[in-house]
Amino acid sequence: DQAKLVTHALAKDTLSQIRDVETEQVGFRKGLVKLGRICGYEIIDGAMETEYVPVETPLTETTGERVKGLDDVVIINVLRAATPFVEGLLKAFPRAKQGVISAGRDEEAGMDEEGAFPISVDYKKLPEITDDDTVVVADPMLATGSTMCTVLEHVLEAAIEDPEDLFVLSAVSAPEGLVRVNEEYPEADLLTVSIDDELNEEGFIVPGLGDAGDRSFR
Ligand code: PRP
Repeated sequence: DQAKLVTHALAKDTLSQIRDVETEQVGFRKGLVKLGRICGYEIIDGAMETEYVPVETPLTETTGERVKGLDDVVIINVLRAATPFVEGLLKAFPRAKQGVISAGRDEEAGMDEEGAFPISVDYKKLPEITDDDTVVVADPMLATGSTMCTVLEHVLEAAIEDPEDLFVLSAVSAPEGLVRVNEEYPEADLLTVSIDDELNEEGFIVPGLGDAGDRSFR
C-alpha cells in the first residue's frame, strides 16, 4: 500500500521538537515515547473496531464501548532506536506481546548500487504470530528500508499464520525506503509521521533527525 501519514497535530509538533538539533538526550527520548503513544492511538483509531459492552456505573447500568483486538497485538522492537518509541506504543497497547530483534546496517560496507545496505541480525526473540494478531513493527527511522525488509522477513518467518494486520511504523521515512518496503512487502501497511525529502550519500534521511539511536542513548 501507499504510505499513510499520521496527521495528528501533536505528532507533527513532537516530531519537530525531536528534529531540533538543540533537543538533548532526555528531551529526544521523551519525544520518541510521546510519538509512539500518539501513533498507537492513531492505529487504534484507523484500524480497530469497538464493540458495545454493558457497564455498571455507580448510578445505573448503561452501554459502553470497548476496543476489539487489544489482546491480540504484537509489537516488534527493532533495537536499538525503537526502544523509546515502543515504550510509547505500549501506553496505547498495554497488553501487547513483544518481539525484539537487533538489526543493524553495515555502515562500512556502504550502500550498494540498488541503494540498500547489508544488514546483520545479531539477536532475535519473536512471539508466535497468528491470524488474530495486529502486528506493529516499530522503528523510528526508515531510511533505505534495508533494515525493515530484513526484519519483516524474520517476523513473517516466525508467523504461524499471516497476521490480520501488519503495520510498519516509523517517525521519519525516506521515499526510497518506503518504495523498497512496499515492493518487497505489499501486504504491509506503511505508517509514518513524515516522508522526508531524500537520502544523502551516507544513507541518512534529510532533513531527518540525525541518528535516533545515538540521540536517545548517549
Ligand atoms: C537505524 C534506524 C533503523 C535503520 C534505518 O538504525 O534505527 O533501524 O538505521 O536504516 P535503513 O532503512 O537504511 O535500513 P542503526 O543501524 O543506526 O542502529 P541503531 O538503532 O542501533 O542506532
